Amino acid sequence: MIEAKEKFMEIPFIDLRVEEDFNERIFDRWKKALYQKDFIGGPALKELTTNILNYTGAKYFIPCANGTDALQVALRAVNIGKNDNVLIPDFTFWATYEAVINVGANPIIIDIDPYDFQMDFELCCKAIEKYKPKAIILVHLYGWCSQKLDEFRAICKQKNIFLIEDGAQIMGSKFKDEDIFKSAKLATVSFYPAKVLGCAGDGGGIFTDSEELYNICISLCNHGRATHYGHSLCGWNSRMDEVQAHFLIESLKEFPIRLESRKITEKKYLEFYEKNKTNLKISIEKPPLNITSNAYLQVSLAKENYDYKSISTKLLELGIKTANTYPCPVSKQQGLDKSVEIISEDNVAEHISKKIVNLPLFPYMTDEEINYICESLLKI
Ligand SMILES: Cc1ncc(COP(=O)(O)O)c(C=O)c1O
Repeated sequence: MIEAKEKFMEIPFIDLRVEEDFNERIFDRWKKALYQKDFIGGPALKELTTNILNYTGAKYFIPCANGTDALQVALRAVNIGKNDNVLIPDFTFWATYEAVINVGANPIIIDIDPYDFQMDFELCCKAIEKYKPKAIILVHLYGWCSQKLDEFRAICKQKNIFLIEDGAQIMGSKFKDEDIFKSAKLATVSFYPAKVLGCAGDGGGIFTDSEELYNICISLCNHGRATHYGHSLCGWNSRMDEVQAHFLIESLKEFPIRLESRKITEKKYLEFYEKNKTNLKISIEKPPLNITSNAYLQVSLAKENYDYKSISTKLLELGIKTANTYPCPVSKQQGLDKSVEIISEDNVAEHISKKIVNLPLFPYMTDEEINYICESLLKI
């Protein structure tokens, strides 16, 4: 048990804090949409698309219903289906695996790099030779991305493999000072409420630099429509509605300042770690080289002899909620098809999954909260 404390604070792992007038602005927008009966395919969707393209610098953006559909649309757009091999990383949200299964293709799971926790490039190259994949889904985990992003992009181009970048977590992140959605050929995003840019419900989208893929994706998301009652593809309904679009338009206005606030907190954790590293039971990890992180998640690793469970239990006694994203790699999930191939030399994802500790990190955290968490880390 932790000793009795003079000061006690309760700090959630995530708190979706917004600006003072934010909710009123949303109510105004929703009220107007309600009176105008703008529900599907209305002006907010167009405005949002323009604003997202302006923010990211990407060429085309297709809003859709959620980040999982976005992956499925992207896979379908490049004709991935039955008997096609698709490489995915072992350390990701289950949706990455689901999307491949749901389009009827064969996922092949690749272990991660212990340095940046993203798909291991060398293992990926070996798997390319062995399995001749038609596509690779590279997940940019934690608002970071692989240090070898250029190499992944280059090898896919050279070998004619479709690279789909699962950017569910990277809105606002940069690689070599460039927005990742701008430089990707085909990438997806999730606007799940807890993401850096989140909806008031579910939402997602697809980015591409190709007009052809844009036309296919927009049609797939809307019943394969060519005209209102003319269907040139068999798609499904994955439209984003106006309620979510209005919410995202206002959120995007505040996004730079919310992002800055997250980054300041991330920096404070890192500065604290530099001064106290020998006295802590966790190592607070820096974003990999060349990456300007959006501070979507704080990333720490439990040191030797500790794991997420031991650290999180002690922090909870002090009122601090933490998370462990993700406690189980894809390859160890109960729902995994047992015939799926797993490419690993050292079971890095499995090891890391027990060690990851995500400290609270959300917009507008106060100095008092950050200091309390840092002091608590010294006490546990
Ligand atoms: C890496 C990754 N891929 C895909 C998704 C799926 O997004 P959604 O929940 O919007 O369907 C998520 C969301 O949590 C994610 O983190």
